[in-house]
Amino acid sequence: MKKPVIAIDGYSSTGKSSISKIIAEKLGLIHLDTGALYRGVTWFALQNCLNDNGTINLERLFSSFDQIELEFKNQNGELVLFLNHIDISKAIRSNEVSDNVSLVAKQKEVRDFLLESQRSLAEKGGIIMDGRDIGTVVLPNADFKFFLTASIDERTKRRYNELLTLGIEAEEQQVKQNLIERDKIDSEREIAPLRQAEDAIVIDNTDLTKKETIQAILNHIQKI
Ligand code: DC
Repeated sequence: MKKPVIAIDGYSSTGKSSISKIIAEKLGLIHLDTGALYRGVTWFALQNCLNDNGTINLERLFSSFDQIELEFKNQNGELVLFLNHIDISKAIRSNEVSDNVSLVAKQKEVRDFLLESQRSLAEKGGIIMDGRDIGTVVLPNADFKFFLTASIDERTKRRYNELLTLGIEAEEQQVKQNLIERDKIDSEREIAPLRQAEDAIVIDNTDLTKKETIQAILNHIQKI
């Protein structure tokens, strides 16, 4: 039997990536965290394409795509993101990247640059991809689509704890503000906005543990 293609979209810090990773392990699928790709491009821009005032020079970024090679490598079962052979998996979680990623991700040039590689990874099936536009744009024919949501306070708590675990300093109020701003930019952008696909199953996991969210998703997949 052909392995399924699963799309998981939703708001920031609803646990999309960590949940997708566990489901991938359980079902023997590849997991692609597409947010990491947008973060990788943002990190490149912050290193190489800044204006004198510290803002990102988008035109310079667009003309530098041929210098960006993003690759996931499997290291002891973990998919680690490399940019031009440098491990950037921790760097892409920094506050600086989080503060700039939505601006970068809303650019058509950036979305076009990343679209085909995401689609080609799904051609053979057997993949779970998480992001914002997977069920609507990247993989509209996915076998299963889920849309995760949770209250802003719960998401703030999760993101704050994730940063602490990574050893990144943060203030809870600032984390909340960043989430609100990113949700707004991601939902209101013209191209591929954060939106629930009409045929997606919505899961509000405010009061669910990670394990319960995973089980809810597996119940739908295994029902078919
Ligand atoms: O999932 P994340 O928080 O790491 O994603 C970082 C940013 O990338 C998020 O603010 C929106 C953008 N993104 C996107 O526009 N489309 C995707 N498929 C995944 C992420």
